[in-house]
Amino acid sequence: MILKTKRLILRPWEESDAEDLYKYASNPDVGPIAGWPVHTSVDNSREIIKGVLSAPETYAIVLKAKGHPVGSIGLMLGKASNIGIPNTEGEIGYWIGVPYWGQGLTPEAVHEIMRYGFEELNLEKMWCGYFDGNEKSKRVQEKCGFHYHHTSKNVPCALEGVLRTEHITCFTKEEWEANKNNK
Ligand SMILES: CC(C)(COP(=O)(O)OP(=O)(O)OC[C@H]1O[C@@H](n2cnc3c(N)ncnc32)[C@H](O)[C@@H]1OP(=O)(O)O)[C@@H](O)C(=O)NCCC(=O)NCCS
Repeated sequence: MILKTKRLILRPWEESDAEDLYKYASNPDVGPIAGWPVHTSVDNSREIIKGVLSAPETYAIVLKAKGHPVGSIGLMLGKASNIGIPNTEGEIGYWIGVPYWGQGLTPEAVHEIMRYGFEELNLEKMWCGYFDGNEKSKRVQEKCGFHYHHTSKNVPCALEGVLRTEHITCFTKEEWEANKNNK
């Protein structure tokens, strides 16, 4: 699946993206706050593309103006999510390279995944989460209309031995429809 917005193309990751992925995912301000380790080499990034970013509904965020990936966004449906949701619901996760922060690009990608999830996959509810203290990610979720649902403590993440407090937010299909009708 390829999705498009004004400034972005969301398309599956390819092994040939490894160098671009490494450029952004090797920055320690990106992975650890989201719960995954800094990429250590282009080969490491290639392995992550093959083993992690090849999961269903996982998209490279490609900036149309640049033509290469600058971030990633994924929709984890049902059991693919760790928060315990049915197949009719999905959890969105995302990150974007530091040079591209603050341009509203992630909310633009999240909004398109919401449209795709509600209107094409017919999902009933979408979820997001952010680890305690990640105010930037909290803002993305607020700006996309997600609202607080609950907090989970001692959540394991892809950083070995690290347990975090995670705040979970959600947004329903009814809310999506209501927002559309108000526009
Ligand atoms: C969280 C993240 C995806 C936000 O992406 P983005 O495309 O910059 O989103 P926005 O442009 O909407 O900015 C969101 C907020 O980040 C903050 N922000 C933006 N640019 C910033 C910068 N250069 N430095 C510090 N904070 C910044 C602002 O508070 C902004 O909110 P505002 O629009 O109300 O001012 C991005 O910062 C990121 O990838 N962070 C590391 C990984 C991560 O946390 N992923 C989410 C895991 S839950």
